Amino acid sequence: MQRLRSVLRRRAAALTAAFAAVLVAGALAGTSVSQAATSQPCDLYAAGGTPCVAAHSTTRALYGTYSGALYQVRRASDNATRDIGVIGAGGYANAATQDSFCAGTSCVITVIYDQTGRNNRLTQAPPGGFNGPAAGGYDKLANAAMAPVTLNGNRAYGVFVSPGTGYRNNATNGIATGDQPEGMYALFDGTHYNEGCCFDYGNAETNSRDNGNGTMETIYFGNSRGWGSGAGNGPWVMADLENGLFSGVNSGYNANDPTVNHRFLTAIVKGEPNHWAIRAGNAQSGGLSTYYNGARPNAAGYNPMKKEGAIILGIGGDNSNSSAGTFYEGVMTSGYPTDATENAVQANIVAAGYAQGSGGGAALNTGSTISLRATTACCTTNYLSHSGTGVATAPVDSASSATVKANASWIVRPGLANTACRSFESKNTPGSYLRHQNFQLYLHPNDGSVLFAEDATFCSQAGVNGQGNSLISYNFADRYIRHYANTGYVASNGGSNTFDATALWPDDVSWAVAAPWTP
Ligand code: AHR
Repeated sequence: MQRLRSVLRRRAAALTAAFAAVLVAGALAGTSVSQAATSQPCDLYAAGGTPCVAAHSTTRALYGTYSGALYQVRRASDNATRDIGVIGAGGYANAATQDSFCAGTSCVITVIYDQTGRNNRLTQAPPGGFNGPAAGGYDKLANAAMAPVTLNGNRAYGVFVSPGTGYRNNATNGIATGDQPEGMYALFDGTHYNEGCCFDYGNAETNSRDNGNGTMETIYFGNSRGWGSGAGNGPWVMADLENGLFSGVNSGYNANDPTVNHRFLTAIVKGEPNHWAIRAGNAQSGGLSTYYNGARPNAAGYNPMKKEGAIILGIGGDNSNSSAGTFYEGVMTSGYPTDATENAVQANIVAAGYAQGSGGGAALNTGSTISLRATTACCTTNYLSHSGTGVATAPVDSASSATVKANASWIVRPGLANTACRSFESKNTPGSYLRHQNFQLYLHPNDGSVLFAEDATFCSQAGVNGQGNSLISYNFADRYIRHYANTGYVASNGGSNTFDATALWPDDVSWAVAAPWTP
């Protein structure tokens, strides 16, 4: 007992010292620095006696001494890959490497490396109970440019999961199995979610199949009501324990699990024999709140747990892949972390200074009216236009009729599905928006549905060919607004449709943002 007390005292002292280092780093934060805090999340978990056994981030090192690769990207132009590392040990991602490697083409994130040294890396999720939409039933890989952020002024990119996207590792090392204790946190975009199953990060089945209640333990984020829910309309942080998203001890509704949608959201789930908890907080300020802390759910099959130890990101345990969300960093631990350890990790996350980034290109100010001119050599006097419900590129000049000019003029609106992106309302057909349907562009009246909002939301970045802007579909993030044979599509850079052709893709998806033909 004496020895146990002394071990606990030593751990508490180490944690206090680590926590103090975090506070100092936090106080120094605020200017653009390449070097982050010396005590990073996994140092804090280690000091608390619950070391990381998986550590994933595309934005920064999660150990003060980590100087390896964070993730790998693959570009479409020649299928070459490039590791993206950190700017100095313990530092932020070297986003400039990605920017130059991916210039003039598109890139996907192929690997999210494990910083623990256990090689628990995440790669393209294979088919399981459900197939993904990519070749061989695999899930899609995330568009590497879709989630720009800054950390204390340093550019970085997150992992943007649109439906069909998923990462997994079914052969891990050191991840909890059975009823062993574990903890995990993840940093998400609290404004990017849907009700599909299941935007998860954490412990899942090693065969990508539903192996029964208690065979998973992950953080879930979204507004699914298919199993559990909390207060308000969601989104909620819940635990996916297989065949159930749990917001507390009850299957279904638990009033203490609030709707949380901080732009940057720290989400925590941890579990040990007949005990688990949900915690969360604003990753930009303040501390964590505990939404549940108690016994395993009062439903059969979750006590004891039967965890299998695979790791998933952006999908359900059986490779359900209709969910959406954005991931920046997360870890899994061996052992059940204390609240004090997690509070220190939250302070470290706040000190990292996450903020919304920019994809570059012209600012698309909401409320302004613009015209979008093609930049492909064939067609530089053509503008993205509608004619009735059809959308095409059409020639417009000062002699064009008032109707032709207005057909080529778009009012920039906050994205109907996410205000960080944009929607485009017709200048001469109020209430009607540019949207895709079966990957073709149309002008349709807003019917108020979630599907319409997502189909009509496009995220802007610098034009792929270096001119103007490119506009990426919010719910099919591998697809960009493109003209092909003068018709409007959302097209991927290579794919099964003729309009996905790689030839001229960088030019066809790059639009000069011009003064509106009809102001
Ligand atoms: O528990 C919810 C989901 O149910 C799991 O993620 C999936 O494996 C199953 O369909």
